Amino acid sequence: MSNIGSYEEKYTSFHWKQAEDELQYGKNGMYNIGYYCSDYLCEKGFGNKQALIWEGFTGEVKNFTYDDLRIFSNTIAKFLQDNEVNVGDRVCLFMDKIPELYIGFIGILKMGGIAQPLFSAFGEEALFTRLDDAKTKVIITQKKHLGKVRRIKDKLPGLTKIIVVDADQSSLQTNEIHFWMEKTEQVDNFDIVKADPEMPSVLHYTSGTTGKPKGAQHVHASIIAQYITSKWVLDLRLDDVYWCTADPGWVTGTSYGIIGPWVCGVTQVILDAGFGTEKWYAFIQKNKVTMWYSAPTAIRMLMKEGLDVVKKYDLSSLRHLASVGEPLNAEAVIWSEKAFGRPFYDTYWQTETGAIVITNFPGLKIKPGSMGKPFPGITATVLNPKTFEPITTAGTVGLIALKPGWPSMMRAYWDNKETYDSKFKNGWYVCGDRSSIDDDGYFWFVGRDDDVINTAGHLVGPFEIESALIEHEAVAEAAAIGKPDPVNMEVVKAFIALKPGFEKNDDLELGIINFIRKRLSPLAMPQEVEFVPSLPKTRSGKIMRRLLRAQEWGEEIGDISTLEND
Ligand code: WTA
Repeated sequence: MSNIGSYEEKYTSFHWKQAEDELQYGKNGMYNIGYYCSDYLCEKGFGNKQALIWEGFTGEVKNFTYDDLRIFSNTIAKFLQDNEVNVGDRVCLFMDKIPELYIGFIGILKMGGIAQPLFSAFGEEALFTRLDDAKTKVIITQKKHLGKVRRIKDKLPGLTKIIVVDADQSSLQTNEIHFWMEKTEQVDNFDIVKADPEMPSVLHYTSGTTGKPKGAQHVHASIIAQYITSKWVLDLRLDDVYWCTADPGWVTGTSYGIIGPWVCGVTQVILDAGFGTEKWYAFIQKNKVTMWYSAPTAIRMLMKEGLDVVKKYDLSSLRHLASVGEPLNAEAVIWSEKAFGRPFYDTYWQTETGAIVITNFPGLKIKPGSMGKPFPGITATVLNPKTFEPITTAGTVGLIALKPGWPSMMRAYWDNKETYDSKFKNGWYVCGDRSSIDDDGYFWFVGRDDDVINTAGHLVGPFEIESALIEHEAVAEAAAIGKPDPVNMEVVKAFIALKPGFEKNDDLELGIINFIRKRLSPLAMPQEVEFVPSLPKTRSGKIMRRLLRAQEWGEEIGDISTLEND
């Protein structure tokens, strides 16, 4: 029997207040996520239970109980306070998937800071844009990433301290301080900031089509949704060994890689190493993973290696599997039944929604290729793209939209009210994706409604890539689009028009690629470059990425009446 029981019954009867009560959210005036992920579990008697089993890329293993989690996060919280971090200050986590990242996240929340996790592979320009926008006060990082921080710190007057978790003070410069989590004097009692449900907690940057990346700002009350979705969708139970493969630089890695599993009191395992089919199967076998949350690109990479390699490992511990980030093709669902004896359950949500909103549920029939149904407490529909009225005819494609009001909904885009407001139409939050709904109420994802590129589950804004490209002396104009890819769904393709006097050749292409490599994250790097005499533009001068994209995908081009140079 699954945790949710009957989906239909829960969908009609559930109210968020029930999840709040079940979690005892607000007991003794306490609303802080940091408390509910550590001290709360210790008070419930799980202090000696493993909270985190971590494995580094060299094979080194570290174990942390819930009591360790409580004490180490206290220690970090106190250290931040001692370094003049105040309630509401933004503290960036810029680290690989090491224990300090996970425990540091809890520590920041405990002292009332706003956690700003950023993917450690970001180039310095990507890092700078996000620290500058958030006016980040402190960054916590590792020696290996310090170079990037040093190269931009002079341009960030608000960044007062750089905390390095693995360096001796003697190797550090002014305003850089070392902090060894496990060697610092431990803090058993820390006065956790009680917070209120609407107090800001986490700032996650996400890319749009235009402009800078936007910081989706979440609040402590988000834990209510993260808790109940972890319980009902991921089906987490106390005896689970849970593995979320996402990096906390993205929302999946925090909502379901930190908050969800820990508030549910499970043991979570983390592998700080890249993808490898056999490495992953060996990790599941060794740790007897029971619940596995991953992404379609990873599943497609496993599929490529075939079924024989699966048989080399004992994966019988797996009880439930789920996926997020991109469309999960029906073949992947069917393959996983063959490979692991159970399907991957597709889950749909966004940085902005903070928690799963449309999904497949254990116990509810899966229609392979469909994203499933709305979570209880979520009203979801598809809207007519012109009138923004709900579409009532089954099978008609429209814009996915949600009725605002669930606890983990972002409360703002940091310092960008205009873009935030533009997301709402007729009282609906419009996700920016297209889908249809069938007669049984299942959602079928069609595609994004903007030019954002989804490569291996990671959103990449074309604007960032184009801005980096046009800084190169030879580039007159540039456009970046997603091109179909059998594994990553999309990869970045760049179209470049050169300035007069420059000729396309391999050396120039390499030069341009090396030039932008420093500015972008590896994911945003174009896999293909095409030189063109000029780019198609609208009469108002906007590059028509839609046209370039349609050509790549072999799709109908649609209305091009506004095209300038047709
Ligand atoms: C896409 C990730 C199809 C979608 C949690 C969405 C999906 C964006 C699915 C959010 C899915 C996410 N099927 N597409 N199951 N899940 N997406 O903000 O375009 O990094 O709007 O959050 O990923 O990506 P984000």
